[in-house]
Amino acid sequence: MTKRTPIIAGNWKMHNTLAESAALVEALKKADNKNNAEIIVAPSFTSLAKVAELAKGSALQVSAQDIHWEDKGAFTSAVSPVQAKDAGATHTILGHSERRSVFGDTDEILNKKVAAALRHGLAIIFCVGETLAQREANETIAVIDTQLENGLKGYTAEQLKGLIIAYEPVWAIGTGKTATPAQAQEVHAAIRKFLAGKYGEDFAQATRILYGGSVKDTNVDEIMAQPDVDGALVGGQALIAEKFTRIINFN
Ligand code: 13P
Repeated sequence: MTKRTPIIAGNWKMHNTLAESAALVEALKKADNKNNAEIIVAPSFTSLAKVAELAKGSALQVSAQDIHWEDKGAFTSAVSPVQAKDAGATHTILGHSERRSVFGDTDEILNKKVAAALRHGLAIIFCVGETLAQREANETIAVIDTQLENGLKGYTAEQLKGLIIAYEPVWAIGTGKTATPAQAQEVHAAIRKFLAGKYGEDFAQATRILYGGSVKDTNVDEIMAQPDVDGALVGGQALIAEKFTRIINFN
């Protein structure tokens, strides 16, 4: 079995002024990291350059929360992969459920954003997850396989090397309801099986699959204990330095 380096990522969503972002990143730079996890923060675009500058030379990596699929053009309010990279991002989240449900990012759009990220060497944190209705209809695995199939369509294992997947059940995001460790493990194992079937066993074993959805300092340990859970994508508690630090230092 491949030993995978854990990733603890914080998605700051639409939070934090410049000053708040700076204070948070300064606190996180001092954080213990006993698991030698990769630590990623995803600030708003307004804070991205500042956070990247402050994070320079530290263990923190900086991610965009999304990118547009074009390099430039008449796309009012959007941010291109070139701009995200220029501001200091090394990663981008794609397909977050809020992007899918609030902003209408479809699998087809996400496939174009995957292309854009790959074109510019941005590491991708590709989010998948089912709604409560889909879970109750026993469609969880089918929904996620389709999101992966369509979102990543057209690329080989070689091209997708370094891909990070985040499983975020929509019903667990910001609700305080966390998937049980067994529920998370079941879906993570299914995602790894999908990856093995499509890209080969080596790719599947090397790919980090993060869990997201109400991850807290109080539940991270049992979630991270699951064999196919390689990290966490944290929302609310990623905004609080002490909480996020505890999550980084999961047991
Ligand atoms: P919460 O941790 O606030 O539930 O958010 C999860 C999430 O959406 C991270 O991307």
